[in-house]
Amino acid sequence: MDDTRQIVPPAAAVSPQQAAERLALARRFPTAMDLREHARKRMPNFAFEYMDGGNGADGGIQRNWAALDAVQLVPRYGKVVKPPPSDCTLFGRAYSAPIGVAPIGGPGTAFPGAETYLAKAAQAARVPYTLGVLSGISVEDAAKIAPDVLWFQLYRFANNDHKIGLELTRRAAAAGVQALVLTMDTPIRTVRSREVKAGIVNPFKLTMRLRWDAIRSPAWLSSLARNGIPRFVSLNPYAPPNLSLEESAAFIRREQGGAFTWEEISKYRDVWKGPLVVKGVLHPADAERAVALGVDGLFVTNHGGRQIDALPTSIDATPAIRAAVGNKATIILDSGVRSGVDAARAIACGADAAFAGKSFLWSLGALGEKGPGHLIRLYTEDLRATLGQLGCANVEELRSVTTRHPGAWKTADFGT
Ligand SMILES: Cc1cc2nc3c(=O)[nH]c(=O)nc-3n(C[C@H](O)[C@H](O)[C@H](O)COP(=O)(O)O)c2cc1C
Repeated sequence: MDDTRQIVPPAAAVSPQQAAERLALARRFPTAMDLREHARKRMPNFAFEYMDGGNGADGGIQRNWAALDAVQLVPRYGKVVKPPPSDCTLFGRAYSAPIGVAPIGGPGTAFPGAETYLAKAAQAARVPYTLGVLSGISVEDAAKIAPDVLWFQLYRFANNDHKIGLELTRRAAAAGVQALVLTMDTPIRTVRSREVKAGIVNPFKLTMRLRWDAIRSPAWLSSLARNGIPRFVSLNPYAPPNLSLEESAAFIRREQGGAFTWEEISKYRDVWKGPLVVKGVLHPADAERAVALGVDGLFVTNHGGRQIDALPTSIDATPAIRAAVGNKATIILDSGVRSGVDAARAIACGADAAFAGKSFLWSLGALGEKGPGHLIRLYTEDLRATLGQLGCANVEELRSVTTRHPGAWKTADFGT
C-alpha cells in the first residue's frame, strides 16, 4: 500500500434511535426519485426548477436516464456468499464507495447551507465531495469539514492571466484538497427554460416573485435563517467588499466565462501537483489530448443535460473513451446516476466511479441536512446488493461482468 492511501475507517456506531430513524427514511424514501418528488413539494418553485431543470425540454436528462436504464448486466451465480464490500481507491486514496458528489454551483439557491451539509455527509460516509468554486463556503472551510474526501472544481477565470483561478489552485493545495477538477464543458451560457419560467433571470435579480416563492417554503426559509444568504465565498478576496447579491452575480459574469483551452489546462498542470481532472469529456480524442498533457482523471459527463440537450449521454460515450485512454486515466462518470445499480453500470462500462449532482440536491430539498447521508446510504447499499446479485466479490470485479450496452458509441462513430 502506498503512503498516500488511507484506510477507510469502519462506519461509526449508530445508536438505536439513529438506526430507527434510518429505517424509517429507507421505508419512506427508498429511491432517489422518491426524494425528488418530495423535494418538488417542499421547495420554493425557483429552487426546485434550478436544481432539476435541463436545457430544452429536458430531453438530455431523459436520455441520460434511459441510456443508463438500457444497460444490462449478466449475473454469475454460485460464487459470492457474503454481502460484498463497496470500497474503492481513486487517485491512490481509499473511499467507502465509488460514488461521489459532483460539483454544484450556487447550491445555496437550491437549498441554503447545501455545501456544508453535503461536505459533512460525504466526510462521514468517506465518499468524495467536489466543492464547486461558485459555493457558499470557502475551500479552506470545506477542507475543515471534509478533510479526507475533498475535491475542488474550478471554472475559467481568465482575467489578469488567470490570477483568480491560479490563486484558488494554490489555496486548494494549501488546504489539502485531493483532486482539482477543471470544467471544460461550459464554453457558452445556454438557456434552461424551466429556470426562465420560474423567474430566475439573467442578469440575476432578487425579484418580489422570488421572495414570495421562498416565503411559501418553511423548510427552505428556516435553512436560510440558519445559514444566511448564499454568497460566493471562495471569491470574496478578489471581489470588492459588501457586494449585493446582484452585484456579486455581475462580478462573476465579468470574471468567469468560456471553456479552458488545452494551453490553459497545461498551465494548471504546471501549478497543481496533485491529481488533475478535466470535467466535460465526451470525445475519445479529447480524452487522449488531456492524458497527453498529464491530466490524471476525466469526468465523462454531459453536465447532467443542463448545457444543450443534443449531447451524447455519458454512459454511451464511456466505453470508447476507456478504449482510447486505457488505464492511463481515472474515469468518473456523471449525468443521470440515480441508484447504486447505475454506479455498477458505469463501472461495468469502463468508468472507475459514478458521481451525481441533481439527486444530492433532491435529497436536501426533501430531507434537509439528513438528505445527503440518506442518499449515500441508499446508493452504497444498492451498489453492494448489485455486486452480490451479479456474483462480484468487490467493485473491481464489476469490470469483467458481461454487459449489453445497446447505445454505446463505437470508436469509429467518433470519426477517429
Ligand atoms: C444545480 C446544478 C449546478 C451545477 N453547477 C455546476 C458547477 O458549478 N460546475 C460544474 O462543473 N458542474 C456543475 N453542475 C453539473 C454537475 O457537476 C454534474 O455534472 C451533473 O449534475 C451530473 O448529472 P446529474 O445531475 O444527472 O447527476 C451542476 C449541476 C446542477 C444540477
